[in-house]
This record gives sequence, structure tokens and C-alpha cells, in this order.
Amino acid sequence: MYLTGKDVRQKETFNLNWFFYLGEEEKTPGDKDTAGYRPVKLPHDWSLEYPFDEAARSCGSGGYVRTGTGWYKKIFRVNPDAVKDGRAVLHFEGAYMLAQVWLNGQSLGRHVYGYTPFEWDITDLLKTDGSENVVDVKVDNSAQPNSRWYSGSGITRNVWICGMKDIHVAPYGVWIRQPEVSEEQAQIHMETRVCVNHRNRASYEGTAPEENDEITVETGIYAPDGSLCMQERTAQSQQIAAGVREELLFCQDFLLESPVLWDTENPALYKAVTKIYKDGLLLDEVCTVTGFRNVRFDSTQGFLLNGVRVKLNGVCVHHDGGCAGAAVHPQIWERRLEKLKAMGVNAVRMSHNPPDPALLDLCDRMGLMVMDEAFDEWRIMKGKELGSNTHESRGYSEWFDSCHEEDMRLMLLRDRNHPSIIIWSIGNEVPDQTVPEGYLTARQLKSICKELDPERLVTQANDQICAEPRAAAEEFLNELDVVGYNYVDRWRTRAETLYDDDKRTHPDWCVIGTENGSLGGVRGEYLLDMKEKAGWWKMPYYSAPVKIGKLLHFTMTHDYVAGDFMWTGVDYLGEAHWPARSSSAGVLDTCGFEKDSYYFYQSIWKRPEPMAHLLPHWNLEVEEGTIIPVLGYTSCESAELFLNGKSYGRKAYAYPAYGMTERYGHFDKAPVPVNTDDLFLSWDVPYIPGYIELVGYMDGREAVRHTVRTAGEPAAVKLHCYRSEMKGDGLDIAQIEAEILDEHGNLCVQADTKLTFTVQGPGYAAAVDNGNPEGMESLRGSCIHAFHGRAYVIIQSDETKNGDTCTVCLEAEGLPGAAVTVSIIP
Ligand code: GAL
Repeated sequence: MYLTGKDVRQKETFNLNWFFYLGEEEKTPGDKDTAGYRPVKLPHDWSLEYPFDEAARSCGSGGYVRTGTGWYKKIFRVNPDAVKDGRAVLHFEGAYMLAQVWLNGQSLGRHVYGYTPFEWDITDLLKTDGSENVVDVKVDNSAQPNSRWYSGSGITRNVWICGMKDIHVAPYGVWIRQPEVSEEQAQIHMETRVCVNHRNRASYEGTAPEENDEITVETGIYAPDGSLCMQERTAQSQQIAAGVREELLFCQDFLLESPVLWDTENPALYKAVTKIYKDGLLLDEVCTVTGFRNVRFDSTQGFLLNGVRVKLNGVCVHHDGGCAGAAVHPQIWERRLEKLKAMGVNAVRMSHNPPDPALLDLCDRMGLMVMDEAFDEWRIMKGKELGSNTHESRGYSEWFDSCHEEDMRLMLLRDRNHPSIIIWSIGNEVPDQTVPEGYLTARQLKSICKELDPERLVTQANDQICAEPRAAAEEFLNELDVVGYNYVDRWRTRAETLYDDDKRTHPDWCVIGTENGSLGGVRGEYLLDMKEKAGWWKMPYYSAPVKIGKLLHFTMTHDYVAGDFMWTGVDYLGEAHWPARSSSAGVLDTCGFEKDSYYFYQSIWKRPEPMAHLLPHWNLEVEEGTIIPVLGYTSCESAELFLNGKSYGRKAYAYPAYGMTERYGHFDKAPVPVNTDDLFLSWDVPYIPGYIELVGYMDGREAVRHTVRTAGEPAAVKLHCYRSEMKGDGLDIAQIEAEILDEHGNLCVQADTKLTFTVQGPGYAAAVDNGNPEGMESLRGSCIHAFHGRAYVIIQSDETKNGDTCTVCLEAEGLPGAAVTVSIIP
């Protein structure tokens, strides 16, 4: 029974107890017969429930997964009192794609784009006499290939059933603008839209509007410590005609003295609590989280947060959660973002679509700045088969004309209160950048942004700035508040210096690296030469950081470049070539395990915190004595490499070099003799099993040490639980990492032990992964082989079982088992 609560506004999860059918058969909405359907929970993504298939119509871009058409059905009752003097709404945070929804056999409507929310007022079709209602959702992802990355298929985000009074805050009806923010004060301009439904119903009671009702909006602003700092009441008296639904706008201004500013170190969050009264009676209450900060892009200084120049050390991410597919629990992102932050990331680009709203909440809370992006395609179709634009494909361009305005608006309305968002991106690499009329579309999209958010700037990620014969049009780039460069170092010998060429011709442009390469690579794999798989895309491990380092160095030393978003923070499903099913562009793999490249960025972005990291591993399959390049990533002033205790010399790099201070010849720190200009160190040493060790020195003293040993045979499996508790609500999860160790506790980098997880108590293994882009094992089973000694499992709570704990047991082929306990919390 839904909507049984007493609050003026109710928002209840609608994720449990759905039925699902995948197939060609057209279903009859409203039918209570669930024969042929199977039970599922939302968010749900059916694409990973079937084997990867080279012939799948989603092809490599979509991750070789099953797509098609799915039907969802849910039978439910609501509290008869729930909508007596109010409304009921079904809210979908997102479904990929083309979702059609029916209630009790009557169509509510259709929503196309898979990444924007939709909702319907279901009041008039809802059975409120205690009898059963049926909601049917058809999700049609059959037009393939329609995405350049793994889209997933299904109701991939949360669904809510909401109850509210006839007079209530409109959807996305609270807008907290912050036109001026400084340490001294924040000017806050709030706009609240209130929906007033005047109905002619028999049950029509006290809270419904009459003529000349007095409606009051009361806003309270609460400081990060929970105290009320400001409050204001604004009343409007309005005549409302019978049978109409109207919207009233209330504007309120606040001047907040000495605000605690939101920034990446201290992401201070305020709350605005909006209450709606009619003649003194409380009718609605909505809480909106925000933060106050001053964000500025500048053509010479790059980017400033609260007046301080900050380089955006950004990563691009796609929406999938690895083995969770497109149905991603926020904790998956929380674990990933914690790791990225610890690497020195301060910004995330939501490529190339509006993200799950929970991900934005996390960025607000964790202090990560966000580029929120709307589209990957405008009017011109982009090829979906890798490396070719000729493959017949589908995509948002088919829907652009009919949907873009609504989708753009939805993104802005949904997201504009998030303090983390510093800029809007209206597109990624849209081919429209090169055609004469493309700038008109850019102008129109930008005008929607300006109408709904005059404060934030707008960019587009351009990949054709220097392309021939058709480069991005000048008129197009001039439409953008901030010119976004994708792969700026791609063009001939100009490489990253293209930024400088453009700077000379357009000194007034604000400039940002919307997307550039990352070090990526496959975790645990080290390409030694160019003979086999290598190409411009896949380089030997010792070459890759040279190219990446060049652009990084340029970005760091040129203030006018606001920063860079590397492609990508995390490996993602799709955009792969068989036999791979995921891309290995990330610094974290699909399980969220750190690759070596993670430490490369950390050594640069987290200076001066001492760290040191060595690669490759020391279980190489080469002849003893083969000369091997060993790389060291360190934040220290210098570092020394040891092989089995023997020193191979101390090295230091030139960036950042400690220069003079105060006057000529004066140094705060003794200059360290440097022997490389790269952002990493390297030594050539003979491969002799044993151990390699990197010792980092600060001020001439040992500050940190990283040892990599030749591991022996696998002897044990160690389990580690990311959060060792979960709610017993059937939706919460726990994430567990497994590591295969030798008898001395060293990671067995070559181990591919078969692992089987079973759960005792109220939980079950919902998904497994090992991070192997070429892994074709099911990600939905409870069994997987380790990849380079590691694996990962997601446990979901089972609401049908009771218990205070659940025990996750691991059976590892040929090794002793292991177990870990997860507590169940209310
Ligand atoms: C970019 C594009 C990304 C991704 C990347 C390569 O050009 O914006 O979506 O395709 O290339 O993996």
C-alpha cells in the first residue's frame, strides 16, 4: 500500500516488486496477468543479463549486449485517503530509452531520451478505493546501434511515487540563484513556482483553493551546521478559476552575511526549506540542498573558485557502473569518486549526457566540480561503429528536433541548484560544429541555458578545431562562453601548442580542455614493444606517459587554460572491439581498481604529499637478464631504485623545479640535480626475480617507499568490504574486493583463480566483475575468474529475508575459502 504517510508531501520508492518481460510480443497494458514475466527490482538494466555476443546489434560501441524491447508491470494499491485533497505523481529518473507508460490501461505518455527524467500526474486514473492499480512501462531500445557507448536498456534509474496536496511546489519549482557570492556575503535570489490545481471534485475539501486564496511561501535557509540563518514569508492572493491548473511565481531575496563557501576542500552545504501555506495551513514542504560559491572563467587566469585560481584536474566519466550496468547504486560512484579524489581529481565531466541525479548529489557532498553535459548528437548523426562513420546507425539526431528543447530544459531545471556544477556543456563533438548553420543550434541551446540559468557559462566539446578540410566554424566557436578543446594535441606537430596559436588570434576566448587522453591501459598488463597490439591508441607502458605528460605539463603551466578533463576516470562498458566489451581508457578499471596510471596523476596532482609507485610487476614472463624499463611515479624531490637491494641510482625530475625565492641566488630548498624533464622517472634494469623498490626522498631524507615483489604461488584470498553494512531494504548494496595472495601476502598478479560467491542471510550476489576488458564471463552471475589477482562483487540486500548480518562466503578453486560479514542496518 503506497502513500500511507501523514506528511504533506510524500515521496516513496517505487522500485520494488516489478515484473519484466523481454521480447517481441506486444503486451496489453492494464492486464494483471504476469504470465511470461519475471520479477525484477528497479533500477534495472536487462542488457547485462544476457551473454556478450559479437553479433549483437548494439555492436562494439554498445558493448555487444542484448537490447530490444522490454515490458515492465507493477500491480499496486494506494491508501484511499492519499489523494483525497491532493495529487499523485509517478516520477521516473530515467529509462533507456523510448519509455511509454500506462496506468490501468490508459496511456500517460512517452519519453524518448534515456538520460532525462519524466513524470506524470496519475491522480485522475488512480484507483483510490483500495483496489489494484496496474502500471505498465514499455522500454524500446530496439533501434540499434543508437549509442557510441554502453547505454544499457530498461528503467535504469529510480522510480518514485509522490503524493502532494492540490497546492504544491511545482516540479523543480525551487530555484536558488546566487548572482553575487564573496566571503563577505552571498546574494541569494529565490524563485518558487507553486502549482495550484482547482478541481471540481465531490471530495474537494479544505485545502483546495477557492477564489482569492491567500497562498504563502515561507523559505528558511539553514547553515551547514543545521542552524536557521534566514527566513522569509511571501504571500500572494490570487483568484483562480475553477477547473484550471495554474502556476504562481514567488520571488524572494536574501543577503547572507559571511557565508561558509562551498569549495573542494570544504564542500559546505546549505539547505533551503520551502513551506507552502494556504490561509495558515501547511500544504507542502520541500527541502533543497545547495552551496554558495563564486565560479569564474577568465581568458587569462583560466578558472577561479571563490576568487582563487584553481586548475581543473578533471576526468570524464560515462554513466555505467561496470558490472552494475546502467542501473547504478550511488555507493558504486561514492567508492569510485573517493578514489579519484584521493588521486587529486577536483572535477568531473558527465560525458555525454545528464547523469543520475545521485551522482550530482555525491559531487556536491564530496567537493567535486562538475561539467554537466546534455548531448552527444544534435542534428547530424554520428557513426556508432568504431573508426567508421559509414555504419548505418541511429541516435539522438533522429529525435533532436522534437526533443532537444524539452531535454535541455529538463537538465537545467533538474540540476541548476547543485553547487558542484560550474559549467553547462551543450554537446560533445557534434559534427554540427563544422557546418555553416551549426552555430544557430549552438545559439539556441545556449539561449535555453541562459534563460534558465543566467549565472553559469556554456561550452561545447570541439574535436574539429584544426581539422581539414572542414574545421569547426569560427561562428560556432564564438557562440561558446568557454571554448572546449577535445584532443588539442592531435593535430600534426602543433600538438598542445594549438592552444597558444588560438590564443594569439583570440585573446579574449576562455579556454578549457573538455576532453583529452589519459594514461589508461589494462590493469596488470604491460606492453613491452610495438610488435603486437600497440598502435597510437595502445602504447608500450614506458611510452604512454611521455605523450600524456606533454599536454599535462602544458596545461599546468599555462594559466589561461582552465584545466582538462581526461578521457576517462573509469573504464566503461562499450566503445570496444571484439573480443573486448569495455574500454580501457580509465585510470580505474570497471571494478574501480587502481591501475598504475592512477599513481602517475596522483604523483603530480597530490604534491607535496609523499607517495611513490613502481611498475611493472615483477612476475614478468621474460628471460632472466632481459633489460626492462622500470617506471617510478613519485611526488618526492628525488627517488632511488633498488633491485634486490642493489641501487640503480637516484633520479629527479625538473617539474616542478624549486626556483629561487626573494632574491637572486636564494633558495628555500636546496636545488635537486635533475636528470629527466618528464613527469615520471625511469630506469633500465635486468629482470631478476626478487623485488624492486622505489625510495622517495624529501629534503634529502627518505619519505616513502614502494616495494614490488615477485609473488609466489597463490595461497589465500583476502576479502575487503568497502562498507561493511547495508540497509535491509532490498535496494542497498555492499561492495567486496577479492585479492589472491601468496603465502607472504604479496598480490599474485598473474592469478586467474575461479571464484564463487555465496551469501548466507538477507543478501545475494547481484553482480561480479574482474576488470578485464576482454572478459566475456557473465557479470550477472556469482562466479568469475580473478583477473591479475583481483575480482569484485556487489551484494544486494534481500528484503524477503530477515537477519542482522549476512555472510559472504567465497569458494576459490584450489585455495582455502574466505568469508566476510556485512551488518544489516535499519
Ligand atoms: C572522443 C569522444 C569520446 C570517446 C573518445 C575515445 O572523441 O568524445 O566519447 O569516443 O573519443 O574513446
